[in-house]
Amino acid sequence: MNKELFKGSVFLNPVPAVVITSKNKEGKENAFTVAWTGTICTNPPMLSIAIRPERLSYEFIKETMEFTVNLPNSFQVRETDYCGVISGRDIDKIKKLNLTSKPGHHISAPYLAEFPVNIECKVKQIIPLGTHDLFLAEVMGSHIDKKLMDENGKIHFEWANLINYCHGEYFPMAKKPIGQFGFSVAKNPIIIEKFAHIKSYVEYSIPKKENNNSLTKKHKKKKITKNKKK
Ligand SMILES: Cc1cc2nc3c(=O)[nH]c(=O)nc-3n(C[C@H](O)[C@H](O)[C@H](O)COP(=O)(O)O)c2cc1C
Repeated sequence: MNKELFKGSVFLNPVPAVVITSKNKEGKENAFTVAWTGTICTNPPMLSIAIRPERLSYEFIKETMEFTVNLPNSFQVRETDYCGVISGRDIDKIKKLNLTSKPGHHISAPYLAEFPVNIECKVKQIIPLGTHDLFLAEVMGSHIDKKLMDENGKIHFEWANLINYCHGEYFPMAKKPIGQFGFSVAKNPIIIEKFAHIKSYVEYSIPKKENNNSLTKKHKKKKITKNKKK
């Protein structure tokens, strides 16, 4: 592969895009979108979100140390984007979007009833990093749409049409898995057979007519060296 070398920017893609709900001490509710989020611990169950201090949600969450992560599905991508471009300082986003906020079970922060998965969190630590502060939070409990559970109680997140966020755009999650945990070393013939068609090679989906070598001015500035030794 002939690779360009970039410095700086976090090119971690794709990431989730989620809507965070919170409530301040006066009872005012808000929702905003976060893509800088991730699972950070299994036990205790913990996740993180990175928030810029200028967000209204930053104020709310710092005040109460609680928030809920709401996972949108592909049909809620417009609402998800809206919550990420409009501030609760200017408009009541939950009301404007006709979303139903329900009181949390474990915390006072609300959750969005229409979103298939809601994860209630209590903030344990806030780490200032630079543009963003990292909120480390413990998961107190979750609400999951019963329709996503099979007769054995197994949760099928893959049925939920969840979305991911890649370099400024939203994408639907693929419907079929291309592997499962441990399948590369599986002995179970059913699992071996299930993924037998998955081969190891690199294939891109590059649109034919586009000139993919064209770099934007911003990217050109960041490009520091071209590896000429081949
Ligand atoms: C897809 C997407 C992802 C975003 N991710 C973050 C994030 O991780 N952290 C953050 O502070 N803001 C993020 N934002 C921006 C906030 O959601 C946005 O500034 C929002 O309007 C803040 O709302 P608030 O002032 O009501 O809290 C993101 C926006 C979008 C559209």
